[in-house]
Amino acid sequence: MTVNTCRICGSAVRPCLDLGRQPVSNAFPRPADAGAETFFQLAVGVCTGCTMVQQLDVLGAEHMFTPDYPYRSSTSAGLRGHFAEVAQWLRETELTGPDPLVVEIGSNDGVMLRSLARAGIRHLGVDPCVGAGETAARDGVRVRVGFFDERSAAVIRAGEGPAQVIFGANTISHVGDLGSIFHGAVRLLADDGVLVIEDRYLGDILAHTKFDQIYDEHVYLFAIRSVRAAAHTYGLELVDTEPLDMHGGAMRFVVARPGRRTPTARLARMLAEEDRMGLASPAVFDRFRAGLETIAKDLVGLLTDLRAGGSTVAGYGATSKSATVTNYCGIGPGLVPLVYDSTPEKQGRVTPGMHIPIVDAARFAEPYPDYALLFAWNHADEIIGRERAFRESGGRWILYVPDVHLV
Ligand code: TMP
Repeated sequence: MTVNTCRICGSAVRPCLDLGRQPVSNAFPRPADAGAETFFQLAVGVCTGCTMVQQLDVLGAEHMFTPDYPYRSSTSAGLRGHFAEVAQWLRETELTGPDPLVVEIGSNDGVMLRSLARAGIRHLGVDPCVGAGETAARDGVRVRVGFFDERSAAVIRAGEGPAQVIFGANTISHVGDLGSIFHGAVRLLADDGVLVIEDRYLGDILAHTKFDQIYDEHVYLFAIRSVRAAAHTYGLELVDTEPLDMHGGAMRFVVARPGRRTPTARLARMLAEEDRMGLASPAVFDRFRAGLETIAKDLVGLLTDLRAGGSTVAGYGATSKSATVTNYCGIGPGLVPLVYDSTPEKQGRVTPGMHIPIVDAARFAEPYPDYALLFAWNHADEIIGRERAFRESGGRWILYVPDVHLV
């Protein structure tokens, strides 16, 4: 459904970027089903009231978060490490009282909750993706299959009592009806509990032209000011923020019941910094659009030249982000004949929209391509480090944010 008023505050939304017709980013068709994907118009706007950056035409969550949703957080060592640290941080700071309850929205394969489960902490993951939940359950994580909203929050509260922590990493921005999440949190949170949100940060996306962070699932691109306004709208208060390295640049937002926590000096400082960047201004989006058009032109130019010169090229990481890059730039098997990925659920499938075949990353060396286009640039250190033999044998990585370059 296309909107021209803000889903949160109802003010007018000013369109600021259109990335064209795009497929569902995590629906990887079998080769025989290629062409039957669901498409939508990928365009974002800025709310003239609360400044929330949001997509104008949003796919229903049921199209994106299907029972066989293939994404698994645990494929990345970096993410495994990050979420082990999150669990430890929560244990040391928020979960020190008697028998606390932690609820995670979008618990995926249990990458965070498994540490808490092992420590005997009462927890519940809420996730509509059955396959991911089954993996989590094998690790001793309790999962409720379904979406988190006011109704399920009420059921959880009735059955388990209030939650000391509600946690959501890379999920809350995915829900068009953001109010359903916040109203659910209001129902479920203990009086002194916290809602901890970790998500991509608009400031980082704009500063480094990470245009491929815009895809169907990222209905909202969170900024400190807009999350603060949303929390206020739904009867909660943003009390802290902290920059994170996760996914190559993200932010933690800590939300509490109004007046229960003193907002930190760090929040005030970061909010002032963000205001100085002018994230909601048309000029910032004009610069971003010019930057991404340069990247698209340079990337297609480079790939075309390499292929014309007889070089072999492969993609690395069939990321959700790569749907935006390949479909916006028109990069298909003619320029990138295959993509390597370590996720079994994606192998043997093709990429959405452009239909590039996906092959097990274990076969990357059979033989190495001359160039590898790193779609999973958010895991660059991990992948380039592990695949060090590729560079040693003369191979070169192609990266495209913040500009097209070789490493
Ligand atoms: P993400 O950018 O949404 O986290 O997706 C990363 C994709 O890259 C995911 O499909 C798994 C894949 N991947 C590999 O193939 N090898 C790796 O070493 C890592 C970290 C990810």
